Amino acid sequence: MSKQRIAILGAGPSGLAQLRAFEAARRAGVQDLPEIVCYEKQSDIGGMWNYTWRTGLDKNGEPVHGSMYRYLWSNGPKECLEFADYSFDEHFGRAIPSYPPRAVLKDYIMGRIDKQAISKYIRFECPVRWVSHDDSTGKFTVTVMNHQTGQQESSEFDYVVVATGHFSTPNMPYFEGVEQFPGRVLHAHDFRDALEFKDKNVLLVGASYSAEDIGSQCYKYGAKSVTISYRSNPIGFDWPQGMEEKPLLAHFEGNVGYFTDGSSKAFDAIIMCTGYLFHFPFLPDELRLQTHNCLYPDNLYKGVFFQSNPKLIYLGMQDQYFTFNMFDAQAWYARDVMLGKIALPEADERRQDMQHWLSHYAAQTGCNAAIDFQAGYIRDLNNATDYPEFAVEKQADLLKEWLLHKQENIMGFRENAYRSTVTGTMASKLPARWLDIKDDSLESFMSLDFAENKAFDKVD
Ligand SMILES: Cc1cc2nc3c(=O)[nH]c(=O)nc-3n(C[C@H](O)[C@H](O)[C@H](O)COP(=O)(O)OP(=O)(O)OC[C@H]3O[C@@H](n4cnc5c(N)ncnc54)[C@H](O)[C@@H]3O)c2cc1C
Ligand SMILES: NC(=O)c1ccc[n+]([C@@H]2O[C@H](COP(=O)([O-])OP(=O)(O)OC[C@H]3O[C@@H](n4cnc5c(N)ncnc54)[C@H](OP(=O)(O)O)[C@@H]3O)[C@@H](O)[C@H]2O)c1
Repeated sequence: MSKQRIAILGAGPSGLAQLRAFEAARRAGVQDLPEIVCYEKQSDIGGMWNYTWRTGLDKNGEPVHGSMYRYLWSNGPKECLEFADYSFDEHFGRAIPSYPPRAVLKDYIMGRIDKQAISKYIRFECPVRWVSHDDSTGKFTVTVMNHQTGQQESSEFDYVVVATGHFSTPNMPYFEGVEQFPGRVLHAHDFRDALEFKDKNVLLVGASYSAEDIGSQCYKYGAKSVTISYRSNPIGFDWPQGMEEKPLLAHFEGNVGYFTDGSSKAFDAIIMCTGYLFHFPFLPDELRLQTHNCLYPDNLYKGVFFQSNPKLIYLGMQDQYFTFNMFDAQAWYARDVMLGKIALPEADERRQDMQHWLSHYAAQTGCNAAIDFQAGYIRDLNNATDYPEFAVEKQADLLKEWLLHKQENIMGFRENAYRSTVTGTMASKLPARWLDIKDDSLESFMSLDFAENKAFDKVD
């Protein structure tokens, strides 16, 4: 019998988790592993964590994937995304603060990867163009554009793992008069450097993580004023002077924005922090996940197996309190199904299980319940595999503390430190106010004096 073949689409944290899961099985002595090919649009691994100065199209004319910007720091505690099989201690050799900048987190994600070992699986600069399924053979055909050779290529697979992320295609609403606005109008996806908005009056539309963080960045790097316009609810933090929230924008007249409460203000720039669309241009309707950003997209059994064709696997499609360790939980479970260690139930039973989670989700109210919901989801997956234990419920408690810390001081919450549930190490404190640390490079961050606890402070 010929080897099973698996295509992984995307080499960001989710795709890398899938590769790592198979690598863990190989190290554990599992024989006859399937043949794996990972197709990646970019020229490196890391997904969203690869900062790019580019916006619009990349060097190959493909849509730029990256939505991250300069000076981006983790918006949640690193203790809640720690890999259970590769700790921060193992990577950095000493305690570091709980909220590292992007480059530091990227260094950690990459540290777990044996680049040489996985490079044989990954085809870089190969955006996936189309995936089809032949019901008679049960095989998928994946067609990619190989920009390195200039040729399109097609290959057959038994399983396809979609790990292409869902924070790259802007949701860009229209507001009357915006076409006459005389300043910059951009989406958060194209925001790169807060210094561009120094001394400017900036309007952000949206009331979630991007609005909160890009607003804070603009404030930190010297915007004259930051106005956040919400559709449903205000973010509600105690914003510093110069930042305010307003209800939804109604229309523009020239550079003046009018809001639904009748107020108005003149702006120099508008940043739409209005979220992202789930966009899979390489999938036909019958294979395409159709959802919005939520904690439990319908039609994914165990959050990963596409209901009408469970050999199509989606990773990381949930809204994310937990990130890297959730992707691992999904990847380990998916691996065990692909290896035949876990049997998938029939369609009816899968539907019942999804219904159970969906009604549980619908009954939740508030952020704390949402955090517990996602922790419960991860626990459910981890109970079935050999992914190392990482006390996800304790991490959920840390996330609840994180919410309180943001409420207490939105410009200072990154100065808090938490204890790792993986190693017991207490994080270092930032040695200065977050607002005063302007250089976010790896070198600069790691040369800060985290003096309070140079040695690991562990609990048994
Ligand atoms: C602005 C921003 C800030 C964030 N900050 C944090 C944070 O502080 N902490 C945190 O934990 N999470 C954060 N996130 C969430 C982030 O999305 C996840 O951490 C993580 O990157 C998701 O991993 P992924 O592999 O699922 O998707 P991605 O990281 O998006 O990777 C998807 C990969 O698929 C590739 N791809 C896409 N389309 C194709 C195609 N057609 N063919 C081939 N390859 C393709 C892409 O090039 C990319 O490499 C942030 C997200 C955004 C947008
Ligand atoms: N530093 C960081 O780590 C950082 C920074 C930025 C982003 N992120 C990550 O990026 C991901 C995406 O966050 P996001 O904030 O971009 O998206 P999001 O969480 O999906 O939120 C989208 C926001 O846009 C609003 N919106 C949508 N359509 C609108 C419209 N037509 N008019 C007005 N408002 C509209 C929504 O309002 P409603 O509430 O009314 O629906 C919501 O507030 C998250 O995982 C986040 O963690 C991280």
